[in-house]
Amino acid sequence: MGLIVTGGTVVFPKENALQQVELLIENGVIAALGSDLPRTGHIVREVNGYILPGLIDVHVHLRDPGQEHKETIETGTMAAAAGGFTQVCAMPNTSPVLDTPALVRDVIARAKQYGYATVRPIAAITKGEQGEELTDFRALQQAGAVAVSDDGRGVQSAGVMYRALRAASALNLPVAVHAEDNSLAHGGHIHAGRVADKLGVQGIPGAAETAMIARDLWLAEETGARLHCCHVSAAAAVTVLRQGKAAGVRVTAEVTPHHLLLTEDAVWDWEANAKVNPPLRSERDRLACVQGLLDGTLDLVATDHAPHTAAEKANGLSAAPFGLVGLETSFPLLYTAFVKSGVLTLPELVHRMATRPAEVFGLPGGTLVVGGAADLTVIDPDTAGVVDPTAFLSKGRNTPFAGRELWGWPVLTMHKGRVVYERD
Ligand code: DOR
Repeated sequence: MGLIVTGGTVVFPKENALQQVELLIENGVIAALGSDLPRTGHIVREVNGYILPGLIDVHVHLRDPGQEHKETIETGTMAAAAGGFTQVCAMPNTSPVLDTPALVRDVIARAKQYGYATVRPIAAITKGEQGEELTDFRALQQAGAVAVSDDGRGVQSAGVMYRALRAASALNLPVAVHAEDNSLAHGGHIHAGRVADKLGVQGIPGAAETAMIARDLWLAEETGARLHCCHVSAAAAVTVLRQGKAAGVRVTAEVTPHHLLLTEDAVWDWEANAKVNPPLRSERDRLACVQGLLDGTLDLVATDHAPHTAAEKANGLSAAPFGLVGLETSFPLLYTAFVKSGVLTLPELVHRMATRPAEVFGLPGGTLVVGGAADLTVIDPDTAGVVDPTAFLSKGRNTPFAGRELWGWPVLTMHKGRVVYERD
Protein backbone atom coordinates (compact mmCIF):
# COMPACT_ATOMS: atom_id res chain seq x y z
CA MET A 1 0.00 0.00 0.00
CA GLY A 2 1.34 3.41 -0.95
CA LEU A 3 0.83 6.90 0.38
CA ILE A 4 -0.48 9.73 -1.78
CA VAL A 5 0.52 13.23 -0.66
CA THR A 6 -1.90 15.75 -2.10
CA GLY A 7 -2.84 19.42 -1.74
CA GLY A 8 0.67 20.92 -1.72
CA THR A 9 2.61 22.91 -4.25
CA VAL A 10 5.81 21.08 -5.13
CA VAL A 11 9.05 23.03 -5.45
CA PHE A 12 11.35 22.07 -8.35
CA PRO A 13 14.62 23.94 -7.70
CA LYS A 14 16.43 22.98 -10.90
CA GLU A 15 13.60 24.30 -13.05
CA ASN A 16 12.96 27.27 -10.72
CA ALA A 17 9.36 26.08 -10.81
CA LEU A 18 6.36 25.52 -8.55
CA GLN A 19 3.71 23.01 -9.53
CA GLN A 20 0.56 21.67 -7.94
CA VAL A 21 1.22 17.92 -8.20
CA GLU A 22 0.63 14.83 -6.09
CA LEU A 23 3.26 12.33 -4.98
CA LEU A 24 2.83 8.59 -4.63
CA ILE A 25 5.23 7.13 -2.09
CA GLU A 26 5.89 3.38 -1.96
CA ASN A 27 8.55 1.60 0.10
CA GLY A 28 10.23 4.88 1.01
CA VAL A 29 10.62 5.92 -2.60
CA ILE A 30 8.72 8.37 -4.83
CA ALA A 31 6.85 6.02 -7.17
CA ALA A 32 4.93 8.66 -9.13
CA LEU A 33 4.49 12.42 -9.48
CA GLY A 34 1.41 13.74 -11.24
CA SER A 35 -2.12 15.05 -11.13
CA ASP A 36 -5.11 12.96 -10.08
CA LEU A 37 -3.10 9.84 -9.23
CA PRO A 38 -5.34 6.74 -8.86
CA ARG A 39 -6.35 6.28 -5.21
CA THR A 40 -7.13 2.57 -5.09
CA GLY A 41 -5.27 0.77 -2.36
CA HIS A 42 -3.45 3.86 -1.12
CA ILE A 43 -3.64 6.07 1.94
CA VAL A 44 -4.24 9.72 1.06
CA ARG A 45 -2.58 12.46 3.07
CA GLU A 46 -3.69 16.05 2.51
CA VAL A 47 -1.09 18.75 3.19
CA ASN A 48 -1.11 22.54 2.98
CA GLY A 49 1.78 24.65 1.82
CA TYR A 50 4.89 24.00 -0.22
CA ILE A 51 6.48 20.57 -0.59
CA LEU A 52 10.28 20.84 -0.76
CA PRO A 53 12.90 18.18 -1.36
CA GLY A 54 14.38 17.35 2.06
CA LEU A 55 16.91 20.04 2.92
CA ILE A 56 20.57 19.04 3.18
CA ASP A 57 22.93 20.61 5.69
CA VAL A 58 26.56 19.88 4.90
CA HIS A 59 27.89 21.35 8.15
CA VAL A 60 26.59 20.25 11.54
CA HIS A 61 28.19 19.32 14.84
CA LEU A 62 26.43 16.36 16.42
CA ARG A 63 28.96 16.17 19.32
CA ASP A 64 28.58 12.41 19.48
CA PRO A 65 30.76 10.58 20.46
CA GLY A 66 32.14 12.29 23.52
CA GLN A 67 30.20 15.47 24.16
CA GLU A 68 26.72 14.10 24.61
CA HIS A 69 25.90 16.79 27.16
CA LYS A 70 25.85 19.25 24.23
CA GLU A 71 24.07 17.07 21.63
CA THR A 72 23.67 13.44 20.59
CA ILE A 73 23.10 11.81 17.24
CA GLU A 74 19.50 11.29 18.38
CA THR A 75 18.76 14.89 19.45
CA GLY A 76 20.77 16.39 16.59
CA THR A 77 18.88 14.42 13.96
CA MET A 78 15.55 15.19 15.66
CA ALA A 79 16.49 18.86 15.40
CA ALA A 80 17.40 18.31 11.74
CA ALA A 81 13.97 16.83 11.05
CA ALA A 82 12.29 19.74 12.83
CA GLY A 83 14.24 22.14 10.63
CA GLY A 84 13.25 20.35 7.42
CA PHE A 85 16.61 18.61 6.90
CA THR A 86 16.66 14.96 5.83
CA GLN A 87 20.44 14.65 5.37
CA VAL A 88 23.19 16.21 7.46
CA CYS A 89 26.95 16.01 7.20
CA ALA A 90 28.48 15.57 10.64
CA MET A 91 31.77 17.32 11.36
CA PRO A 92 34.58 15.24 12.89
CA ASN A 93 35.59 17.43 15.86
CA THR A 94 34.02 14.99 18.29
CA SER A 95 35.79 13.23 21.13
CA PRO A 96 37.49 11.13 19.89
CA VAL A 97 37.91 12.87 16.55
CA LEU A 98 36.32 10.97 13.63
CA ASP A 99 39.59 9.83 12.12
CA THR A 100 39.10 6.07 11.78
CA PRO A 101 36.80 3.98 9.58
CA ALA A 102 35.32 2.28 12.68
CA LEU A 103 34.19 5.62 14.13
CA VAL A 104 32.69 6.69 10.78
CA ARG A 105 30.78 3.42 10.49
CA ASP A 106 29.54 3.72 14.07
CA VAL A 107 28.07 7.21 13.50
CA ILE A 108 26.29 6.04 10.34
CA ALA A 109 24.90 2.93 12.04
CA ARG A 110 23.61 4.76 15.10
CA ALA A 111 21.94 7.46 13.00
CA LYS A 112 20.22 4.70 11.00
CA GLN A 113 18.81 3.19 14.19
CA TYR A 114 17.03 6.43 15.02
CA GLY A 115 16.01 7.11 11.42
CA TYR A 116 15.21 10.83 11.78
CA ALA A 117 17.71 11.90 9.11
CA THR A 118 20.56 10.41 7.12
CA VAL A 119 23.92 11.28 8.65
CA ARG A 120 26.86 11.56 6.26
CA PRO A 121 30.05 11.82 8.30
CA ILE A 122 32.91 14.06 7.29
CA ALA A 123 36.14 12.51 8.55
CA ALA A 124 39.20 14.39 9.78
CA ILE A 125 41.99 15.45 7.41
CA THR A 126 44.64 14.87 10.06
CA LYS A 127 44.82 12.44 12.95
CA GLY A 128 43.14 13.95 16.00
CA GLU A 129 42.76 17.18 13.98
CA GLN A 130 46.31 17.89 15.08
CA GLY A 131 47.27 19.28 11.68
CA GLU A 132 50.21 16.94 11.21
CA GLU A 133 49.64 13.39 10.04
CA LEU A 134 47.09 12.63 7.32
CA THR A 135 44.33 10.12 8.03
CA ASP A 136 43.67 7.20 5.66
CA PHE A 137 41.35 8.94 3.17
CA ARG A 138 40.65 5.84 1.11
CA ALA A 139 39.61 3.74 4.10
CA LEU A 140 37.52 6.58 5.51
CA GLN A 141 35.79 7.08 2.17
CA GLN A 142 35.09 3.36 1.92
CA ALA A 143 33.59 3.49 5.42
CA GLY A 144 31.15 6.19 4.24
CA ALA A 145 32.86 9.54 4.83
CA VAL A 146 31.66 11.97 2.15
CA ALA A 147 34.49 14.48 2.63
CA VAL A 148 37.40 15.28 4.91
CA SER A 149 37.77 18.36 7.11
CA ASP A 150 39.57 19.52 10.25
CA ASP A 151 36.62 21.80 10.95
CA GLY A 152 36.98 23.86 14.08
CA ARG A 153 40.65 24.37 13.22
CA GLY A 154 42.56 25.51 10.20
CA VAL A 155 45.31 23.27 8.85
CA GLN A 156 48.22 25.59 9.57
CA SER A 157 50.88 23.89 7.46
CA ALA A 158 50.63 24.56 3.72
CA GLY A 159 52.66 21.40 3.15
CA VAL A 160 50.19 19.24 5.05
CA MET A 161 47.30 20.81 3.13
CA TYR A 162 49.09 20.26 -0.16
CA ARG A 163 49.55 16.56 0.59
CA ALA A 164 45.93 16.30 1.77
CA LEU A 165 44.64 17.85 -1.44
CA ARG A 166 46.79 15.55 -3.57
CA ALA A 167 45.55 12.47 -1.75
CA ALA A 168 41.91 13.62 -1.86
CA SER A 169 42.17 14.51 -5.53
CA ALA A 170 43.14 10.94 -6.41
CA LEU A 171 39.93 9.76 -4.68
CA ASN A 172 37.72 12.63 -5.94
CA LEU A 173 36.96 13.31 -2.26
CA PRO A 174 35.97 16.88 -1.31
CA VAL A 175 38.18 18.66 1.20
CA ALA A 176 36.10 21.03 3.34
CA VAL A 177 38.32 23.67 4.86
CA HIS A 178 37.90 25.67 8.01
CA ALA A 179 40.06 28.58 6.85
CA GLU A 180 41.75 30.19 9.83
CA ASP A 181 45.37 31.23 10.04
CA ASN A 182 46.14 31.08 13.75
CA SER A 183 48.93 33.63 13.52
CA LEU A 184 46.32 36.14 12.31
CA ALA A 185 43.41 34.96 14.48
CA HIS A 186 45.80 35.35 17.42
CA GLY A 187 43.49 33.84 20.02
CA GLY A 188 40.78 36.41 19.22
CA HIS A 189 37.16 36.10 20.30
CA ILE A 190 35.07 38.30 17.99
CA HIS A 191 35.59 40.19 14.74
CA ALA A 192 38.53 42.60 14.80
CA GLY A 193 36.45 45.72 14.32
CA ARG A 194 34.48 48.46 16.02
CA VAL A 195 32.90 46.30 18.71
CA ALA A 196 36.11 44.50 19.69
CA ASP A 197 37.86 47.87 19.96
CA LYS A 198 35.14 49.32 22.20
CA LEU A 199 35.04 46.24 24.41
CA GLY A 200 38.80 45.90 24.49
CA VAL A 201 38.51 42.28 23.38
CA GLN A 202 41.05 40.55 21.13
CA GLY A 203 39.69 40.46 17.56
CA ILE A 204 39.96 38.01 14.65
CA PRO A 205 40.61 39.87 11.39
CA GLY A 206 38.96 38.85 8.13
CA ALA A 207 42.45 38.21 6.79
CA ALA A 208 42.72 35.13 9.06
CA GLU A 209 40.15 33.56 6.74
CA THR A 210 41.03 35.22 3.44
CA ALA A 211 44.73 34.38 3.62
CA MET A 212 44.06 30.67 4.11
CA ILE A 213 41.35 30.53 1.45
CA ALA A 214 43.77 32.17 -1.01
CA ARG A 215 46.47 29.64 -0.08
CA ASP A 216 44.15 26.65 -0.42
CA LEU A 217 42.61 27.86 -3.67
CA TRP A 218 45.93 27.80 -5.45
CA LEU A 219 46.93 24.54 -3.79
CA ALA A 220 43.66 23.11 -5.15
CA GLU A 221 44.42 24.51 -8.58
CA GLU A 222 47.79 22.78 -8.58
CA THR A 223 46.48 19.45 -7.27
CA GLY A 224 43.12 19.38 -9.09
CA ALA A 225 41.35 18.67 -5.78
CA ARG A 226 37.74 19.49 -4.94
CA LEU A 227 38.06 22.27 -2.40
CA HIS A 228 35.04 23.35 -0.37
CA CYS A 229 35.35 26.45 1.82
CA CYS A 230 33.26 26.28 4.98
CA HIS A 231 31.38 29.21 6.55
CA VAL A 232 32.75 32.12 4.49
CA SER A 233 32.42 35.38 6.40
CA ALA A 234 34.83 38.02 5.05
CA ALA A 235 34.27 40.33 2.06
CA ALA A 236 37.82 39.78 0.75
CA ALA A 237 37.35 36.00 0.97
CA VAL A 238 34.30 36.31 -1.29
CA THR A 239 36.39 38.33 -3.75
CA VAL A 240 39.19 35.75 -3.73
CA LEU A 241 36.70 32.92 -4.28
CA ARG A 242 35.12 34.79 -7.18
CA GLN A 243 38.57 35.13 -8.76
CA GLY A 244 39.38 31.48 -8.14
CA LYS A 245 36.14 30.34 -9.74
CA ALA A 246 36.73 32.63 -12.74
CA ALA A 247 40.17 31.03 -13.10
CA GLY A 248 38.59 27.58 -13.25
CA VAL A 249 39.63 26.23 -9.83
CA ARG A 250 37.39 23.39 -8.58
CA VAL A 251 36.23 25.34 -5.57
CA THR A 252 32.86 25.60 -3.85
CA ALA A 253 31.83 27.54 -0.78
CA GLU A 254 29.16 27.78 1.88
CA VAL A 255 27.72 30.62 3.91
CA THR A 256 25.73 30.40 7.13
CA PRO A 257 22.43 32.12 7.93
CA HIS A 258 24.13 34.05 10.75
CA HIS A 259 26.78 35.51 8.47
CA LEU A 260 24.05 36.51 6.01
CA LEU A 261 21.83 38.14 8.62
CA LEU A 262 23.95 39.45 11.51
CA THR A 263 26.97 41.66 12.14
CA GLU A 264 29.43 42.17 14.99
CA ASP A 265 26.77 44.38 16.62
CA ALA A 266 24.85 41.25 17.64
CA VAL A 267 27.45 40.85 20.39
CA TRP A 268 25.94 43.87 22.23
CA ASP A 269 22.61 42.10 22.68
CA TRP A 270 23.57 38.45 22.67
CA GLU A 271 27.08 38.40 24.13
CA ALA A 272 28.51 34.86 23.92
CA ASN A 273 25.39 33.65 22.09
CA ALA A 274 26.73 35.71 19.20
CA LYS A 275 30.26 34.29 19.57
CA VAL A 276 31.02 32.09 16.61
CA ASN A 277 34.01 31.16 14.51
CA PRO A 278 34.47 32.71 12.03
CA PRO A 279 32.99 35.71 13.81
CA LEU A 280 30.04 37.88 12.82
CA ARG A 281 31.74 40.70 10.95
CA SER A 282 31.02 44.19 9.59
CA GLU A 283 28.00 45.24 7.54
CA ARG A 284 30.30 45.42 4.51
CA ASP A 285 31.32 41.78 5.04
CA ARG A 286 27.69 40.75 5.52
CA LEU A 287 26.61 42.46 2.30
CA ALA A 288 29.49 40.81 0.41
CA CYS A 289 28.28 37.41 1.66
CA VAL A 290 24.72 38.17 0.51
CA GLN A 291 26.04 39.30 -2.88
CA GLY A 292 28.20 36.15 -3.07
CA LEU A 293 25.17 33.96 -2.42
CA LEU A 294 23.10 35.81 -5.03
CA ASP A 295 25.74 35.57 -7.78
CA GLY A 296 26.69 31.95 -6.97
CA THR A 297 30.22 32.65 -5.69
CA LEU A 298 28.92 31.11 -2.47
CA ASP A 299 27.22 27.95 -3.69
CA LEU A 300 25.12 26.94 -0.76
CA VAL A 301 23.87 27.62 2.74
CA ALA A 302 24.99 25.44 5.65
CA THR A 303 24.08 26.04 9.27
CA ASP A 304 27.30 25.19 11.16
CA HIS A 305 24.91 23.98 13.88
CA ALA A 306 27.22 24.09 16.91
CA PRO A 307 25.42 23.31 20.17
CA HIS A 308 26.97 24.29 23.51
CA THR A 309 25.46 24.32 26.99
CA ALA A 310 23.96 27.44 28.57
CA ALA A 311 26.54 27.18 31.37
CA GLU A 312 29.43 27.24 28.88
CA LYS A 313 27.93 30.21 27.06
CA ALA A 314 27.47 32.07 30.38
CA ASN A 315 31.24 32.10 30.93
CA GLY A 316 31.73 35.51 29.36
CA LEU A 317 32.83 36.51 25.87
CA SER A 318 36.44 35.43 26.28
CA ALA A 319 35.92 32.07 27.97
CA ALA A 320 32.76 30.85 26.20
CA PRO A 321 33.16 28.41 23.30
CA PHE A 322 32.48 29.46 19.70
CA GLY A 323 29.25 28.33 18.03
CA LEU A 324 25.52 28.80 17.45
CA VAL A 325 22.74 26.31 16.84
CA GLY A 326 21.09 26.55 13.45
CA LEU A 327 19.16 23.47 12.39
CA GLU A 328 15.74 24.53 13.68
CA THR A 329 15.79 28.16 12.56
CA SER A 330 17.71 28.34 9.29
CA PHE A 331 14.98 27.71 6.78
CA PRO A 332 12.42 30.13 8.28
CA LEU A 333 15.16 32.74 8.83
CA LEU A 334 16.15 32.68 5.18
CA TYR A 335 12.61 32.25 3.89
CA THR A 336 11.62 35.38 5.80
CA ALA A 337 14.72 37.41 4.90
CA PHE A 338 15.03 36.48 1.24
CA VAL A 339 11.88 34.85 -0.14
CA LYS A 340 9.16 36.79 1.67
CA SER A 341 11.00 40.01 0.80
CA GLY A 342 11.27 39.04 -2.89
CA VAL A 343 15.08 38.80 -3.15
CA LEU A 344 15.05 35.07 -4.02
CA THR A 345 12.30 32.82 -5.29
CA LEU A 346 11.41 29.84 -3.13
CA PRO A 347 12.96 27.38 -5.65
CA GLU A 348 16.15 29.48 -5.64
CA LEU A 349 16.43 29.23 -1.85
CA VAL A 350 15.74 25.48 -1.95
CA HIS A 351 18.40 25.15 -4.64
CA ARG A 352 20.95 26.54 -2.18
CA MET A 353 19.74 24.44 0.74
CA ALA A 354 19.12 21.08 -0.96
CA THR A 355 20.14 20.80 -4.62
CA ARG A 356 23.59 22.43 -4.50
CA PRO A 357 24.57 20.72 -1.23
CA ALA A 358 23.77 17.35 -2.86
CA GLU A 359 25.74 18.23 -5.99
CA VAL A 360 28.79 19.59 -4.17
CA PHE A 361 29.10 16.60 -1.80
CA GLY A 362 27.96 13.99 -4.34
CA LEU A 363 24.91 12.97 -2.31
CA PRO A 364 21.63 11.54 -3.57
CA GLY A 365 18.56 13.78 -3.20
CA GLY A 366 18.20 17.53 -3.36
CA THR A 367 15.30 17.29 -5.81
CA LEU A 368 12.05 15.34 -5.86
CA VAL A 369 12.15 12.77 -8.66
CA VAL A 370 10.46 9.48 -9.42
CA GLY A 371 12.73 6.71 -8.16
CA GLY A 372 14.38 8.97 -5.57
CA ALA A 373 14.03 8.64 -1.78
CA ALA A 374 10.84 10.13 -0.35
CA ASP A 375 12.77 12.76 1.62
CA LEU A 376 10.67 15.88 1.77
CA THR A 377 9.53 18.71 3.95
CA VAL A 378 6.32 20.71 3.91
CA ILE A 379 6.59 24.37 4.86
CA ASP A 380 3.84 26.79 5.77
CA PRO A 381 4.44 30.19 4.14
CA ASP A 382 1.57 31.98 5.86
CA THR A 383 1.72 31.36 9.60
CA ALA A 384 4.12 33.44 11.65
CA GLY A 385 5.96 31.83 14.54
CA VAL A 386 8.47 33.17 17.02
CA VAL A 387 11.86 31.52 17.61
CA ASP A 388 11.59 29.88 21.04
CA PRO A 389 14.82 28.11 22.02
CA THR A 390 13.11 26.36 24.94
CA ALA A 391 11.05 24.44 22.37
CA PHE A 392 14.09 23.23 20.38
CA LEU A 393 14.58 19.49 19.99
CA SER A 394 18.33 20.14 19.94
CA LYS A 395 20.00 20.18 23.35
CA GLY A 396 21.59 23.48 22.30
CA ARG A 397 19.75 26.72 23.03
CA ASN A 398 22.61 29.01 21.95
CA THR A 399 21.03 31.23 19.32
CA PRO A 400 21.09 34.99 18.72
CA PHE A 401 17.74 34.72 16.91
CA ALA A 402 15.47 34.05 19.93
CA GLY A 403 12.26 36.07 19.81
CA ARG A 404 12.33 36.72 16.04
CA GLU A 405 9.03 36.45 14.22
CA LEU A 406 9.51 34.25 11.15
CA TRP A 407 7.54 32.64 8.34
CA GLY A 408 8.15 29.47 6.36
CA TRP A 409 8.31 27.01 9.27
CA PRO A 410 8.52 23.31 8.43
CA VAL A 411 5.25 21.64 9.44
CA LEU A 412 5.98 18.08 8.31
CA THR A 413 9.20 16.27 7.44
CA MET A 414 9.36 12.87 5.80
CA HIS A 415 12.53 10.78 5.73
CA LYS A 416 12.54 7.77 3.40
CA GLY A 417 8.74 7.87 3.31
CA ARG A 418 8.29 7.98 7.08
CA VAL A 419 6.94 11.06 8.89
CA VAL A 420 9.73 12.03 11.28
CA TYR A 421 8.46 15.45 12.32
CA GLU A 422 5.09 17.16 12.56
CA ARG A 423 4.54 20.61 14.01
CA ASP A 424 1.59 20.72 16.44
O1 DOR B 1 31.72 28.52 15.95
C1 DOR B 1 32.19 27.43 15.68
N1 DOR B 1 31.88 26.34 16.42
N2 DOR B 1 33.01 27.30 14.64
C2 DOR B 1 33.66 26.18 14.38
O2 DOR B 1 34.38 26.15 13.42
C3 DOR B 1 33.52 25.00 15.27
C4 DOR B 1 32.23 25.04 15.98
C5 DOR B 1 32.17 24.07 17.12
O3 DOR B 1 32.54 22.91 16.97
O4 DOR B 1 31.64 24.45 18.19
